[in-house]
Order: sequence, then structure tokens, then C-alpha cells
Amino acid sequence: MIDGNGNSTSYSQKQELLLTNARIVTMVSGSQGYLVSQPTDLYVKAGKLHALPNQLPADTPIYDCKYKLVTPGFIDCHTHLVYAGNRANEFEMRLNGMPYSEIARQGGGILATVKATRAATQNELVEYALPRLDGLIRSGVTTVEIKSGYGLTLKDEIKMLRAAKALQDRRKVNVVTTLLAAHAVPPEYQGKSDDYIRLICEEIIPMVAEERLASSVDVFCESIGFNLQQTEKVFITAKQYGLNVKGHTEQLSNLGGTALTAKYKGLSADHIEYLDGEGVSALANSDTVATLLPGAFYFLKETQLPPIKLLRQRKIPMAIATDVNPGTSPFSDLTMMMNMSCTLFGLTPEEALRGVTCHAAKALGLAKVKGQIQHGFDADLAIWDVEHPADFSYQQGIARLTARVVNGEVEHV
Ligand code: NIG
Ligand code: FE
Repeated sequence: MIDGNGNSTSYSQKQELLLTNARIVTMVSGSQGYLVSQPTDLYVKAGKLHALPNQLPADTPIYDCKYKLVTPGFIDCHTHLVYAGNRANEFEMRLNGMPYSEIARQGGGILATVKATRAATQNELVEYALPRLDGLIRSGVTTVEIKSGYGLTLKDEIKMLRAAKALQDRRKVNVVTTLLAAHAVPPEYQGKSDDYIRLICEEIIPMVAEERLASSVDVFCESIGFNLQQTEKVFITAKQYGLNVKGHTEQLSNLGGTALTAKYKGLSADHIEYLDGEGVSALANSDTVATLLPGAFYFLKETQLPPIKLLRQRKIPMAIATDVNPGTSPFSDLTMMMNMSCTLFGLTPEEALRGVTCHAAKALGLAKVKGQIQHGFDADLAIWDVEHPADFSYQQGIARLTARVVNGEVEHV
């Protein structure tokens, strides 16, 4: 028996586990999914949740949840967690009046991080990412998406993706990787962005697909990123190589990247502050998730709000993510993003919780295996000292996570 006080932190059980006295919030679709259950048992076998068998082997390990709240493990579906360097200086420049886009045009912004990331080794990138990952883990994260995009050469993009995957050897967490080679035009391709798109399509995507280093390809479709035609070329190539697509779209202006992402059956269109009615309709007619990144909205002091009411009206699933990155969202705390999505964007605490569970899973193409407490789903859970799930969006900065279950293995905080 393992008590719920953390006395058995070395515990590891890949085969079977019975969690008892769990007050669960399943996050299945419909209002039922947000209700807190009566204390119940959860049975885990080989990393998956299963119906309780009639007879349990006598030696089945038991974890007593002690009536704590159990949610699906949180999923951060959009991060740039792996990078080197620090851009506090740009934060100061912005506060002294220079806009983000101007800093980017002068070779700062993303390119400043590219310089530092290229100079770092794969191991250094892992070490730099760990404190940020630990922040996410403390906020209940069991699955994190990590993008490349600060290497911008074949070698450096691969180095970033390998570093992202290597984090799984250092922490109990599921990492999902996304190739974001089309994040910025690298310095050596200035004025030749089409040539860089060719490099991405002819060399980087094929290699990343062959080595299975990423499951999706993302593009920063923006005036300071890549235009619609270039974005489409990358999407077409990604699809040819069997990879999913997603987009950084409508963050600073409305180029139509969201509709393009929907057209290519993208998993998600992310940011979308400048999305218009047409773009919302494109999402409504697709299976693409709208991912909201309130940290970047807040940190850039953006005033254009994403079209939440329309998204809600058209029943488009909304995910919420940290967008952890050194330029626009230096925040490694997913529950803080839940709070911001409520206070800044007007989401309800239920929408916020769906945004980091079932809808975040959908934004990663994992809706059938993660983000809900259901038989057959992965046994990824978070166990909290929390009375009601609205608390996640309400209080910030207090330690309320007591344990996580990742692929059926318990880890105490
Ligand atoms: O999601 N929009 C582009 N990419 C990041 C910013 C990256 C950076 O500034 O380093 C974002 O906001
Ligand atoms: Fe981003």
C-alpha cells in the first residue's frame, strides 16, 4: 500500500495499479464531464485506464487518493520550451517603447534566440529546458508539446527536436514534438525566404519524417514570418510525408493562415487574436482546434482579443497553452494560463479546464487517448488538494498538486 503522503516516492508500477477514494472530474464531453464524482476507484493496467475487474490479484498495488480531486493530466499543447539564451533586454526595450515587430526587424526577437540556440549543444539545451519543464510539471502537466524553430538549419532543428525528446529521459512526462523550421527567415537567407522554404521542403521535412523526430509541422504565418503561399508549400510537403500540420496564425495581423490551416486539416490554429468571422467559419467547417495563448497576449500587451464569443457560438473546441518562449510568453505555468484565459479572454473555468485537457489532446491529435478519464485512455492523471475544479482558474501560486500519474506510474510532488 502506498499512502497519499509521499512516503513511497520511489514507487514505480508499469503493470497494475488501483487508485482508491478518488474524486474524479472525467472531462468527457457534455456537462457531466465537469462534475466531481463521488469517491471512486480507478484501475490501471499497462499504462491504460480500465474497468475494474471482478477479481483483483491480491498483490495489486493500491494508491489511496484520500478524497483528493483527480483530473486528467494537464496537456500543454503549444510550447517553445527548448531554447538557449534570455531576452530580458528586449522586455526592457519594449517597455521603453519599441514594438515586438520592430525588435524582430532589427535582428532581435526570434533571431536573437536562434543565435544562442545554434551555439548550444543538445545536452545544454536539455539542461536549459529542465527548469521550465519543472514549472509545467508543477502545474499538473503530464504531456507537453515542444516545437523546434530556433535552429533554422537542418542540423540545429534536429538538435532541438532531439533535445526535446531527451527530456523524457530526465522527467516523467510525455513529449510531443513539432517541427517549426518555418518560424523565421534565418539570417543567411534574408531576402531569400523562398529559398529557405525550399530547404525546409526538400531537406528538413524529409529528414525529420525519416527519423521520426516530429509528428507535426508548424508555420509562423505572419508578416514577420512566412506568407500564405509559403505556408501552403510547407503544409503540402508535410502532408506528403505523413505529418500533421498546425499554424501560428492571425497573431499580429489577419493573413488568412487559420483558414489555410483548416483547409489542410490542421490539428490546430494557434494565437488567432486577429481572426475574423470568415476565419471562424473555416474553423467551424473543419476539425481544427482553436488554441488560445493568453500568456503571449498579456506579455505583448496586445489589445485585440481573439473572437471568443464567435468561437463559442460555433462550438469550436478551444485549447489553452503556455506558448512558453523567451520573447512573448516567459511563463512556465499552465494553471496561470487558465486564470488568464478567464480574466483576459472571458472563458469560463470549465472551458479553461477543457482547454488544458480534452481540447488540448485534440490539438495534438490525441483526443482518443489523452485528456479524459475514460476506459481505454492513457493513465495520465493529476491528483490535487483542490475542492472544486474552478479553483484551477481561480487561485494562483499555491502548491496544490500532490501527485501525477504518467502512463500508469505515480510520481509524488
Ligand atoms: O508563439 N509567434 C511566433 N513565435 C513565438 C514567439 C517566439 C519568440 O519571440 O521567440 C510565439 O509567440
Ligand atoms: Fe508559439
